[in-house]
Amino acid sequence: MTTEVTKTDRVPAGDAGPGDLVLETSGVTLRFGGLTSLDNVELRMRRGEVLAVIGPNGAGKTSLFNSLTGAYVPQEGKIVFRPRRGGEHSLLGAKPHVVSRLGLARTFQNIRLFGALTALENVKIAAETRLKADPVSIMLGLPNARKAERASDRRAHEVLSFVGLLDRINELAGALSYGDQRRLEIARALATDPEVLLLDEPAAGTNPTEKLELEELIRRINTELGVSVLLIEHDMRLVMSVADRVMVLNFGKKIAEGSPSEVQRDPAVIEAYLGSVTEEDEAAVAEVVAEAEAVAEAEAAAAGTDGTGSGDDPGGEPGDAPGADAGGPKAQDTEERE
Ligand SMILES: Nc1ncnc2c1ncn2[C@@H]1O[C@H](COP(=O)(O)OP(=O)(O)OP(=O)(O)O)[C@@H](O)[C@H]1O
Ligand SMILES: [Mg+2]
Repeated sequence: MTTEVTKTDRVPAGDAGPGDLVLETSGVTLRFGGLTSLDNVELRMRRGEVLAVIGPNGAGKTSLFNSLTGAYVPQEGKIVFRPRRGGEHSLLGAKPHVVSRLGLARTFQNIRLFGALTALENVKIAAETRLKADPVSIMLGLPNARKAERASDRRAHEVLSFVGLLDRINELAGALSYGDQRRLEIARALATDPEVLLLDEPAAGTNPTEKLELEELIRRINTELGVSVLLIEHDMRLVMSVADRVMVLNFGKKIAEGSPSEVQRDPAVIEAYLGSVTEEDEAAVAEVVAEAEAVAEAEAAAAGTDGTGSGDDPGGEPGDAPGADAGGPKAQDTEERE
């Protein structure tokens, strides 16, 4: 029943029938006060692919992840998830724990681990959400709870081994190197047996060796585990090497989509983000940026505001501060396991 896509039989998502699309959004629009963070976004993710989402800072990439995983509820649009077992689920407004149980798991731009717990404990907590034992059975140490505990322990060991952290399982998460913490977050997401894994800047803060290891890990998650990967990443070398397709956001709008090489050649993308291929491109990017700043200033002056447009937003520093992922005006109660 599964339709695994290998890197050699790439088919543009535009040619895929609805059954082949594991995740599909249409018209997704998310606003915070006067700011439109996602503007009519269409995403078509083919089962088994690595789809990268790129774009400049503030383009709406994390907002898209938050909308897919129930942390934000877009005001408009549709989000549909089609699991392998069949059927369709609307994810628009679904609670984060429901989204997780359906088969989507994510990591965060800002690492969210329990620093004072060991690597093993961090992963076991995630694995346990898949198991049936209720809190009373666990407290009383009843046989079904002990069985569940053994199962989560086994699962945690499996995924820690898969990401290459077996020799670190008893170390405190907070004491691990940055690269290991990133891998631990991925292990924790994998412990829930996802069909789709959403990685929000997994290479941020890692060194070149760690980046290469991460690249390899993403490939193995995709090919060996058959997990579809949605990847937000600023490191273009990583994106271009692991992604089957790339979609580009700018100011909340999708401005391009295609194979890595198509996107790399797209003038709109060069202007918006990649830039710096030649001195000329660099100058063009500088111009675009200067123009955007001038427009923002003019608008702010006309509106008599400071131009932030976030009057009713309690979210603090969006997308960056820990907790900001659930902090918008339409944020769900955070019922994530963390
Ligand atoms: N909770 C929130 N409240 C108010 N504005 C928000 C909130 N979350 C996101 N935004 C705004 O939405 C826009 C997109 O932010 P988002 O964090 O999604 O960008 P991003 O593409 O992930 O950027 P980066 O590459 O810096 O992580 C920004 O203008 C941001 O200020
Ligand atoms: Mg982000």
